[in-house]
Amino acid sequence: MQKLIVEGGRPLRGSVRISGAKNAALPMLAATLLTDEPCELRNVPRLRDTRTMCDLLQSLGKDVLFEGGTVRVSSRSRLSPIAHYELVSKMRGSFCVLGPLLAKLREARVSLPGGCVIGIRPVDLHLKGLRSLGVDFEIEGGYVIGRARRLIGDRIYLGGVFGSSVLATANVMMAAVLAQGETVIHSAACEPEIVNLGNFLNAMGAQVSGHGTPIVRITGVASLHGATSEVRFDRIEAGSFILLAAATQSPITLQNVEYDQLLVLIDKMQEYGMRFRYEGDTLNLKCPAVGQPVSITTYPFPGFPTDLQAQFMALMSLTPGVSVVIDKVFPDRFMHIAELNRMGANIRREGSTAIIQGVPELYGAPVMASDLRASAALVIAALAAFGTTEIHRVYHLDRGYEDLDQKLLGLGARISRADE
Ligand code: UD1
Repeated sequence: MQKLIVEGGRPLRGSVRISGAKNAALPMLAATLLTDEPCELRNVPRLRDTRTMCDLLQSLGKDVLFEGGTVRVSSRSRLSPIAHYELVSKMRGSFCVLGPLLAKLREARVSLPGGCVIGIRPVDLHLKGLRSLGVDFEIEGGYVIGRARRLIGDRIYLGGVFGSSVLATANVMMAAVLAQGETVIHSAACEPEIVNLGNFLNAMGAQVSGHGTPIVRITGVASLHGATSEVRFDRIEAGSFILLAAATQSPITLQNVEYDQLLVLIDKMQEYGMRFRYEGDTLNLKCPAVGQPVSITTYPFPGFPTDLQAQFMALMSLTPGVSVVIDKVFPDRFMHIAELNRMGANIRREGSTAIIQGVPELYGAPVMASDLRASAALVIAALAAFGTTEIHRVYHLDRGYEDLDQKLLGLGARISRADE
């Protein structure tokens, strides 16, 4: 295991290229199971999670070549319906092979992903949506076993207690593209990653419309063909760099971004006092010396993303005044509070609400990364803090941020890795 050593308190400068979105790449890679023909995906970030998905595709019978940012997937043998615990338990995104396997084979045996530190994360919506298409499920030995004689399109309401579900929407879309007749998903997730997936499915010959809105319509087709597609930029990585720039008052530039996908964060950051200039695919950031406290509540897209909540809290912990952060998507996603407080922050949690009293300074300390986005929050806090911070269990970061150390070194940060 490795730890990250960060010397904070230095302003950063320069420009950074934002990578392809992990959360778009994972379901798109799973979608290659829907055809026997070769597929190519470009701008795939080189991360632990994308490699895990490639390993899973290989274990299911595909040949996968991951070179640079391009993944080529072709058929090696008959598809296997079994997605093993060893790979699915590594990352929840693996569960989105369920829909494609059922569509292609009419059977699937996929390990339940289990809980994780950000909350319980059930799969009831995935199963509900797929049941509507005609799948019978049983749970046995920690596996979801699904079987269907055939898949038939239906009208499905997919909203849950916490709103729409991104991967449940992806799973149902991927099953419905090869079902008989029309499927209409109501309360579908509107995330850009769903748009990316829908466009890839259409490039493979599917008939999907309305993706990116709460009502997605899919007319089933007999088969899909191979296709080439590109993964769009990672809005969460871009957002993390915006928050990092604000916390360190660094006038950095982001490349390869789409303004509209960042609108909710930009709006909140304008309230904070940050200024933005957007040209082509480049976003220039101008940061105030002292920002205003801003409160946020996370919601599904186009609301404030839960995947930026921890990083936002790191910034607010350094912003004079009181701010409130409420997570309506994952109400237990607050493991980072204790670690930020160890660095001198003053954050109190009450249920799904965090009350942050900004402090003038944070101080370097040994801290523990608990999950992917909490790790990013600790990196932001560490870069802004006085002194040296050691972030343990840094492997979480490698799941979701491509070349983070290199990108930060390029901006002038003092950051290094060491074995534990
Ligand atoms: C995806 C993202 C993750 C992000 C999350 C919310 C990927 C690989 N991961 O995860 O980074 O934090 O969206 O934007 O794309 N829920 C149910 N029943 C279900 C499924 C979900 O109640 O069957 C609940 C969840 O517990 C959560 C909410 O719905 O409270 C949203 O979760 P969901 O959108 O499903 O998250 P993921 O798709 O797993």
